[in-house]
Amino acid sequence: MKFLRLFLLLFVLQTQAQQGGMWIPSLLNGMNEKEMKSLGMKMSVADIYDVNKSSLKDAVPQFNGGCTSEVISPKGLLLTNHHCGFGQIQEHSSVEHDYLTDGFWAMKTEDELPNEDLVVTFIVKIEDVTSKVLEDTETLTEADKQKKIQENISALSNSLPKESWQENKIRTFYEGNQYMLFVTETFKDVRLVGAPPSSIGKFGSDTDNWVWPRHTGDFSLFRIYADKNNRPAAYSKDNVPYTPKHFLPVSLDGIKEDDFTLVFGYPGRTTEYLPAVAVQQIVNELNPAKIEIRDAALKVEDGFMRKDKAIKIQYASKYAGVANYWKKWIGETQGLKKSNAVAVKKKQEAAFQEKVIKAGKQAEYGSLLSDFEKNYTEIAPYALARDYFSEVILRNTELLSLTYKMYQLEQILNTKGEQAFNDRRNNLVKGLGDFYKDFNKTVDEKIFEQLIDLYANKSPKQFLPASLNNINPKTLSAEIYQSKLTSYDGVKELLAGDSKTVLANLNNDKAFQMVKQIADSYFKNVSPKYDEINLKITALQRTYMKAQLKLNKDSRLFPDANSTLRVTYGKVKGYEPKDATIYTPITYLDGVMEKYIPGDYEFDVPAKLIDLYNKKDYGQYGEKGKMPVCFIGTNHTTGGNSGSPAIDARGNLIGLNFDRVWEGTMSDIYYDPAICRNIMVDIRYVLFIMDKYAGAKNLIDELKLVHPKKK
Ligand code: ARG
Ligand code: ASP
Repeated sequence: MKFLRLFLLLFVLQTQAQQGGMWIPSLLNGMNEKEMKSLGMKMSVADIYDVNKSSLKDAVPQFNGGCTSEVISPKGLLLTNHHCGFGQIQEHSSVEHDYLTDGFWAMKTEDELPNEDLVVTFIVKIEDVTSKVLEDTETLTEADKQKKIQENISALSNSLPKESWQENKIRTFYEGNQYMLFVTETFKDVRLVGAPPSSIGKFGSDTDNWVWPRHTGDFSLFRIYADKNNRPAAYSKDNVPYTPKHFLPVSLDGIKEDDFTLVFGYPGRTTEYLPAVAVQQIVNELNPAKIEIRDAALKVEDGFMRKDKAIKIQYASKYAGVANYWKKWIGETQGLKKSNAVAVKKKQEAAFQEKVIKAGKQAEYGSLLSDFEKNYTEIAPYALARDYFSEVILRNTELLSLTYKMYQLEQILNTKGEQAFNDRRNNLVKGLGDFYKDFNKTVDEKIFEQLIDLYANKSPKQFLPASLNNINPKTLSAEIYQSKLTSYDGVKELLAGDSKTVLANLNNDKAFQMVKQIADSYFKNVSPKYDEINLKITALQRTYMKAQLKLNKDSRLFPDANSTLRVTYGKVKGYEPKDATIYTPITYLDGVMEKYIPGDYEFDVPAKLIDLYNKKDYGQYGEKGKMPVCFIGTNHTTGGNSGSPAIDARGNLIGLNFDRVWEGTMSDIYYDPAICRNIMVDIRYVLFIMDKYAGAKNLIDELKLVHPKKK
């Protein structure tokens, strides 16, 4: 009896202790399927991915390269996050039609708004092409090997069979141990259909970003249009709504704790197999440096934005972009420390070393860990200098990143000649109008003062140009911000004339001179050495991955995220963020009202929503007199999973993924099942906003609403 209980307990613990993972949809049978069923999944893995019949994958396209979306009607209606459609919503907004503030709803298809450059990409099939990609590479040196692999990939992409409107894309998995072919279809006519006001779609804004409990209705709606043959086509008024191979039915039955959940989407990048020494570097050096830089830039922007409404509008989107990863790195660093990730990794490495010895594989794998130690130690100053360069010069000081484009222009003339120079110059002149619309010289100059100081004093000194010794940031900024590059007219003036004139003018410009010195130093002192060591590290990571796959045959290892379609699964589950604190997994509209601050730019609530709340007018979407808003689960997600469908045990839509919880943001490096949670909008809240708040009954009527639990 006791044994039985112990056995049961172990069994229960085992099914609960999921290790996370982002799995390749075509390879779920076997161990994943068993675990998924033990967690409550009622469909088969062929319902998720099948080449021969329609399956869930046919309803889940990547959204514009960086997010995920799902088809939810037979007429190509597409759901994604508000923050994923933000650029398009903003693009269509003006003072008269402020869709960001007021929301937007197309009550008929004629009103749907086309978007230049917006695309969604479906996966048609996935195939293992490892042996073909690695053909004739065995005996080559590392650099030649990488070159040959790239050649093989482009040859295969051209020669492998596909339809004329499709594309072949080959991606590496397990750090170069496996290669997969993706045959894709990209639709180019995708129109905006609906968006809630930002006070719903972005409720809580930066304060609540990466945080649970959450109350954001982070969704927007689009529609895919196709030509008369239902194939991808550039925008045309003759295009028709796309008929999908599959669309997701929408569940009205809601969720409760421990329900099975599956999140299907395109996670961007994770690094789960770094050695302890690399994680240590991230925690102690790289993250703190990046955080300090962004902290300084954000403080300056915030100061101006609070005082000046025009600046607030100019910088809102830029601020959100910079703040998003600034905040993530803070959470990640804390999480890695709190979960002792470095110590855990060290323990795993000791066990690994033992396994290597036991298996008699010292010759192949015995020196991996010491080689990691050596190379990561060697790369440290270069990696730090690289982060400083990209954060200060390329990312957070706009005048410098713009000037860097001029620096590249000069390089293009030197390496590719007159024609390439002219093309790039014309593109720059055309494209920069948008840049200057949101550029404020005073704000940027203050950011520069802070950041150039950090660059000169905190980035490794041995790599810097002499001109950055003992600078006075104020004097320097006064000089640099005289540059013609601080205005659109100035840039046009600088870039006018033949290439000789342009280069002479640029080289006379103070901002250009400074960026040129910095960039020249960087490309001479940092990047060659960084690339050289990094190539070795890449090879080590590949061998380390191979060794783990070979020596841990009975445990499953998932490949790091690489922007390809993945399945992650788990349960609806709360967590304990700290001692004596328990977070339950579902939030309600009551919580929106608790956070409500009238007139606040983050926590205002629209009057109509307050009204619906007061009347408890939730229609078929509420539950026991309450309106669910968001929920969390143990699905292992990352950036790129935004907009991913949360799917129930039978393949119906129950939610929309958009974020992770603060304590678990380190899941890109170390997934701890105790505290790593993804955040989803409850689909019933989406429906409630569409129907009761916006009155978009036309859209509700397109959906297939189901009651899977009442079967
Ligand atoms: N943290 C989420 C993600 O990484 C949401 C970001 C958008 N929201 C925001 N307040 N910036 O994309
Ligand atoms: N918010 C992220 C995204 O936009 C999702 C995440 O990092 O959890 O993809």
